[in-house]
Amino acid sequence: MARFSLFSLLVSVLAASGVLAVANTNESFSFAHPLEHRIAYAGARGMFVSWNTFAQLDTPTVWYGCDPFDVTSKATGNSTIYPTSRTWNHHVKLTDLKPNTKYWYYVSNTNCYGCSELPMYTFTTAREAGDETPYSAAVAVDLGLMGKDGLSNHVGFGGAANPLGPNDTNTIQSLLMYKDTYDFLAHFGDIAYADYALKESWQGYFGNDSLIPNKTSIATLYESLLEQYYDEMQPISAVKPYMVGPGNHEANCDNGGTTDTVHNISYTVSICVPGQTNFTGYINHFRMPSEESSGNGNFWYSFDHGMVHWVAIDTETDIGQNLTSPDEPGGSENENSGPFGTYNQQLNWLDQDLASVDRSKTPWIVVGAHRPWYVSAKNRSSTICLDCRHTFEPILIKHNVDLVMHGHVHVYERNQPMKNYNPDPNGLNNPSSPWYIVNGAAGHYDGLDSLNAQLNNYSVVATDKVYGWSRLTFHNRTHMTHQFVASKNGTVLDTATLYKEHC
Ligand SMILES: *[C@@H]1O[C@H](CO)[C@@H](O)[C@H](O)[C@H]1NC(C)=O
Ligand SMILES: *[C@@H]1O[C@H](CO)[C@@H](O)[C@H](O)[C@H]1NC(C)=O
Ligand SMILES: *[C@@H]1O[C@H](CO)[C@@H](O)[C@H](O)[C@H]1NC(C)=O
Ligand SMILES: *[C@@H]1O[C@H](CO)[C@@H](O)[C@H](O)[C@H]1NC(C)=O
Ligand SMILES: *[C@@H]1O[C@H](CO)[C@@H](O)[C@H](O)[C@H]1NC(C)=O
Ligand SMILES: *[C@@H]1O[C@H](CO)[C@@H](O)[C@H](O)[C@H]1NC(C)=O
Ligand SMILES: *[C@@H]1O[C@H](CO)[C@@H](O)[C@H](O)[C@H]1NC(C)=O
Ligand SMILES: *[C@@H]1O[C@H](CO)[C@@H](O)[C@H](O)[C@H]1NC(C)=O
Ligand SMILES: *[C@@H]1O[C@H](CO)[C@@H](O)[C@H](O)[C@H]1NC(C)=O
Ligand SMILES: *[C@@H]1O[C@H](CO)[C@@H](O)[C@H](O)[C@H]1NC(C)=O
Ligand SMILES: *[C@@H]1O[C@H](CO)[C@@H](O)[C@H](O)[C@H]1NC(C)=O
Ligand SMILES: *[C@@H]1O[C@H](CO)[C@@H](O)[C@H](O)[C@H]1NC(C)=O
Ligand SMILES: [Fe+2]
Repeated sequence: MARFSLFSLLVSVLAASGVLAVANTNESFSFAHPLEHRIAYAGARGMFVSWNTFAQLDTPTVWYGCDPFDVTSKATGNSTIYPTSRTWNHHVKLTDLKPNTKYWYYVSNTNCYGCSELPMYTFTTAREAGDETPYSAAVAVDLGLMGKDGLSNHVGFGGAANPLGPNDTNTIQSLLMYKDTYDFLAHFGDIAYADYALKESWQGYFGNDSLIPNKTSIATLYESLLEQYYDEMQPISAVKPYMVGPGNHEANCDNGGTTDTVHNISYTVSICVPGQTNFTGYINHFRMPSEESSGNGNFWYSFDHGMVHWVAIDTETDIGQNLTSPDEPGGSENENSGPFGTYNQQLNWLDQDLASVDRSKTPWIVVGAHRPWYVSAKNRSSTICLDCRHTFEPILIKHNVDLVMHGHVHVYERNQPMKNYNPDPNGLNNPSSPWYIVNGAAGHYDGLDSLNAQLNNYSVVATDKVYGWSRLTFHNRTHMTHQFVASKNGTVLDTATLYKEHC
């Protein structure tokens, strides 16, 4: 089963049952216990190290070094908290590192009295732009909490879809088992699914005592689900940079408006207390390299790694051209969130960011965008983002982007390279259009979605029956391979290689 620290589990259980006050000073525990370790690239010579604790820390500190017997370099950072968060988020940026180099590190209070044992972790910095060594990256989208409060082998009585098979390895476990086969993990939105606390409540998943949630119970459950997810991810995110983008499930606690069909109750954002609206947890939890790329917080940014320029964009808010973005007030998801930039700020940034790519150094450009526009799913505005296509596609075509990875629809679908609905005549053999892959099949409480019975004519391979994640391998300047890995058994169910001349 998924791993999470005993301490955190205990605290979560106590807190969920209302027993725990965060000010508790019971000496059996250290509230400074470092939890939820996560790292993120901050340029080829930098790394963000972030973690959470139940106690406030005076000076969050990271010790690090490229010799395990001399881990004495030291960097400090700062902490953030938000209303309803039971933990502090600590963020330290390490700078002036060597590219493509392994470091050992540990954070404040590792091995504190009363803490469970933590290892010294390692990370490897990104390859500099222009380094043509082959490498792989993992991509998972729509990945939620696994285990008894998330996706498991049973469902609530209201009927969540697609439980895991009794002995199936889930996606977090699979990503951990195969962590030596990729250098970092990209997660383009829908992280944890803490906003499923509402639906899981009325579906009886937390027992029949909490069927009718209220502001207090939801605030507590939401934080508990977040904490559990980040604890489950720790064995991966402590050692592999975890690069995230925004999805609709980060926006607020009501899951876009949840209807309890058993008790005939409709929940809106009014059940969300401050701290669980407008992407607050997401903003506080992560640090993405937007300062390094003139981006905007964790919403849009880019980074180079070896032969690839990676870009994360925001399909949830700020899609520009005066269009109402899906998660903005009045948008298709009723999330009442954003915007985070000014008029067309994201589009202008994307255009400039892509224009400034030196293709002699980073011939490949990969863009991660949560919501798809090319997908064989129901043509609903909350599912297929036609406005996103309208604003983003011309820029992606103009700059000859190689690959666009989407999620949001919980299926796997590999499409052709294409533009304006037209498959590229060259297919994967040196196309002049971006290649589109939807992989939202990582898994969460509500399982998988359904593909249309009739796939679109640009669709090549698709499945709505298997949980899985993507592995991208950049062999050299001209060849890259996408693989769809089945989480349950590690089998690669689909492989396709893109050839680009890149001259
Ligand atoms: C601390 O908490 C543990 C676990 O709940 C309990 O067994 C122990 O008695 C407590 N100790 C004190 C000093 O309160
Ligand atoms: C925390 O650190 C970041 C990065 O060093 C800095 O931008 C930010 O202003 C700091 N915040 C506070 C409250 O000191
Ligand atoms: C799951 O694994 C257990 C223990 O190995 C085995 O007894 C059981 O038959 C398996 N169930 C399925 C459905 O494969
Ligand atoms: C909760 O209620 C549902 C629906 O009435 C029922 O099917 C289920 O057995 C109950 N669960 C428990 C643990 O009582
Ligand atoms: C909120 O729900 C919880 C869990 O069901 C319950 O224990 C608590 O009494 C409720 N609070 C209010 C104010 O209704
Ligand atoms: C559900 O509640 C609404 C009012 O909130 C009411 O109009 C409707 O008749 C109810 N439906 C059922 C099946 O009870
Ligand atoms: C968006 O709105 C602004 C202000 O009303 C206007 O100047 C601009 O032309 C509009 N842009 C588009 C694409 O409609
Ligand atoms: C969300 O936060 C942003 C940035 O703080 C703010 O500009 C925006 O107005 C907020 N949106 C809503 C709906 O409150
Ligand atoms: C999808 O719906 C939009 C309107 O919401 C319409 O313009 C478009 O033609 C539809 N696409 C397909 C393939 O039916
Ligand atoms: C694919 O389908 C679209 C309509 O959905 C149609 O306009 C186009 O001609 C079709 N292309 C091919 C190659 O069949
Ligand atoms: C690039 O990698 C592909 C796949 O491994 C290989 O077939 C091809 O020969 C390589 N090209 C060069 C120029 O090395
Ligand atoms: C792994 O699971 C997939 C999906 O169910 C299946 O198609 C494949 O055959 C399995 N692989 C092995 C080696 O059993
Ligand atoms: Fe989504």
